[in-house]
Amino acid sequence: MRPHTVVALVVISLIGLGQGSEWYDSGNYYQIYPRSFRDSDGDGIGDLNGVTEKLQYLKDIGFTATWLSPIFKSPMVDFGYDIADFYTIHPEYGTMEDFERLIAKAKEVGIKIILDFVPNHTSDQSEWFTKSVDSDPDYKDFYIWHDGKINEETGEREPPSNWISEFRYSAWQWNDVREQYYLHQFEYRQPDLNYRNPAVVNEMKNVIRFWLAKGVSGFRIDAIPYLFEVDLDRYNQYPDEPLTNDTEACPDPDDHCYTQHIYTQDQPETLDMVYQWRTLVDEFQEEYGGDKRLLMTEAYTSFDNMIKYYGDGVRNGSHIPFNFDFLSNINNASKAGDYVEHIEKWINSMPEGVYANWVLGNHDNKRVASRFGVQRTDLINILLQTLPGHAVTYNGEELGMTDVWISWEDTVDPPACNTDPDSYYDRSRDPARTPYQWDASSLTGFTSADHTWLPVAEDYKTNNALQQLRAPRSHLQIFKKLVRLRKETSFRQGALSIQALDDDVIIYSRQKEGSDLYVVVLNLGDSSKTIDLTKYYSLGSEAEIITTSLNSQYIDGEIINPSSFIANAYVGTVLVAVN
Ligand code: GLC
Ligand code: MG
Ligand code: CA
Repeated sequence: MRPHTVVALVVISLIGLGQGSEWYDSGNYYQIYPRSFRDSDGDGIGDLNGVTEKLQYLKDIGFTATWLSPIFKSPMVDFGYDIADFYTIHPEYGTMEDFERLIAKAKEVGIKIILDFVPNHTSDQSEWFTKSVDSDPDYKDFYIWHDGKINEETGEREPPSNWISEFRYSAWQWNDVREQYYLHQFEYRQPDLNYRNPAVVNEMKNVIRFWLAKGVSGFRIDAIPYLFEVDLDRYNQYPDEPLTNDTEACPDPDDHCYTQHIYTQDQPETLDMVYQWRTLVDEFQEEYGGDKRLLMTEAYTSFDNMIKYYGDGVRNGSHIPFNFDFLSNINNASKAGDYVEHIEKWINSMPEGVYANWVLGNHDNKRVASRFGVQRTDLINILLQTLPGHAVTYNGEELGMTDVWISWEDTVDPPACNTDPDSYYDRSRDPARTPYQWDASSLTGFTSADHTWLPVAEDYKTNNALQQLRAPRSHLQIFKKLVRLRKETSFRQGALSIQALDDDVIIYSRQKEGSDLYVVVLNLGDSSKTIDLTKYYSLGSEAEIITTSLNSQYIDGEIINPSSFIANAYVGTVLVAVN
């Protein structure tokens, strides 16, 4: 018998690894940033008909569903995350008829549509806000208004507290008409709704029902930790938040990190609200039938909180609380052991009956290929697609799109615009939001206009979807192979046995008893390693390469000897045992 180093091997049980039969189990999700995906009408801005046109492309890759960043009427201060009317399609993106066509086409093609639900705030252009400014009795308390306080020394009126906006500066904005301050945890033109007002809670539930009735399959819920602020009734004043006192990491009093957000984030009522929304979508499905509706939630919060978004043992919450533990802790400098630690941490902490999820890119972070290095593009895609549970891909990551450098003059993202020419780049989300690279034609086939709202990448002539579809080997070909592979029993239902061999190499297997044994080898490091994989897994003298990074010395379909497997620098490989 071969020696097995099972001691070091972490075997993760079958619980929660995706054995259910709902459409979303082991789902493969694609985030579309509609403004930058495909422009159908030649105005340089992506739109709904552009998305409709490309649904077959998503189906051909093999995605289950796509979630769309906001498509609702908006003055576009925060590019749609400032909603002026939750019930209307943003005119630049199309009409309600276009949306209905999108839903119909998605049904025909077999792709589920998930919308972004932005509950924390509206645009200051919302009629609700205008009425609130005018103290209309129905809307007076729709937002969080306060007189502020009088500075004892100067006698001047000041904001009620030291709360700082996520996008820098005070979170309180004075309004001349109402002569009060209102709270905005993001841009000052994104006033926070008042969740302590039952009318707000009801109205936002109506928003959910409205879009469910239009045929959407669920929601990605935005910025949840900010929903509730501390209850004013418990204090005479809104209390100041304690300072972080980290002069190195956060020296600037105007920055959000300057204070600890104990009164403005993660209030206990917030989780309850998510559980209420889950009940709502479940009840909708029970009443109107059809497939179950899905919730994915965006919460950059403590690990324990993230897990609580799944549910509290009694009530269910989000199906997919985005795994930002992985996104926030794993970076270019992470060692193999760090990856393994964070993968296990999530899987071992999840409640029973739910699924893990893996996401490394979105419209709020720099591009994966830029963060981890272009050479690791395939390795990261291999990892995300072969772990148990849900995978979420931000549009363009499947092509290995990289950040596009954008000058201060061309910068439009509000948190970056709120800084200065020296420091904006770190804050800017524009580099990851540039037009999707479709082909080598003018402006990358994104538009027929002679301009785009953000510049297109310089490398689009050689790096685009069409070129990658035609090439025998490309990031996209590898990605497509992975998506197909995920549908195999061992990936949907198999256990995960994972370990770090050293600082660079991660190995794991996926196998369900009676089904194929798959082994994944990821070499994060910059030098080749020869590994005897038979020491760790029951592989015979031959194994087949299913897929491997572009910079691998192997090719798909090659039969190799797993006792002397060569993991090239930055290369990921999936192989299967050959009987
Ligand atoms: C979320 C969105 C981000 C937006 C913010 C305010 O974090 O992902 O893009 O700026 O919420 O709505
Ligand atoms: Mg357009
Ligand atoms: Ca809020």
